[in-house]
Amino acid sequence: MIMTPFTTFLLTLLSLFAFAIALPISNLQARDVFVPPILYPHAGTVWQAGNHHNVTWDISGAPVNITNKVGMVILATNGLEDIEHPLASNFNILDGRVEIQVPDVPTGNNYAIVLFGDSGNFSPNFTIIN
Ligand SMILES: *[C@@H]1O[C@H](CO)[C@@H](O)[C@H](O)[C@H]1NC(C)=O
Ligand SMILES: *[C@@H]1O[C@H](CO)[C@@H](O)[C@H](O)[C@H]1NC(C)=O
Ligand SMILES: *[C@@H]1O[C@H](CO)[C@@H](O)[C@H](O)[C@H]1NC(C)=O
Repeated sequence: MIMTPFTTFLLTLLSLFAFAIALPISNLQARDVFVPPILYPHAGTVWQAGNHHNVTWDISGAPVNITNKVGMVILATNGLEDIEHPLASNFNILDGRVEIQVPDVPTGNNYAIVLFGDSGNFSPNFTIIN
């Protein structure tokens, strides 16, 4: 892009706008909405259907009062969440891990784990082999 004074002005305006939107959300998260990042599975993980694994996540940023402590783990296939068949549910999000059994799904898709507390948080895409 050619940086004329006008585009510079426009970009400044845009970044200020984005900041104004981002600020209330991060404040809210600091208060009680907890969306922990998933540590495992990560990019490059390969799971075999039928095996058991611990899905793990980082609880170090957990606020004192969490709106919803009840966790749920679901599988997403090519970005599509299968909310009807959770891999685990009704566990405490502060556990930092939950054991799941890898479902019997076809090889060759992009799989991701979605961890729900207050809202869903995706793991990177990884591989399941059947
Ligand atoms: C999951 O973690 C628990 C606690 O550390 C451990 O007892 C269990 O064996 C783990 N399960 C697997 C499949 O590794
Ligand atoms: C957490 O909740 C308790 C009980 O409702 C309250 O007394 C306390 O002030 C809250 N702490 C924070 C940091 O919001
Ligand atoms: C995972 O793969 C799906 C498509 O299969 C894609 O839409 C999505 O953006 C990918 N997620 C990441 C984090 O790369």
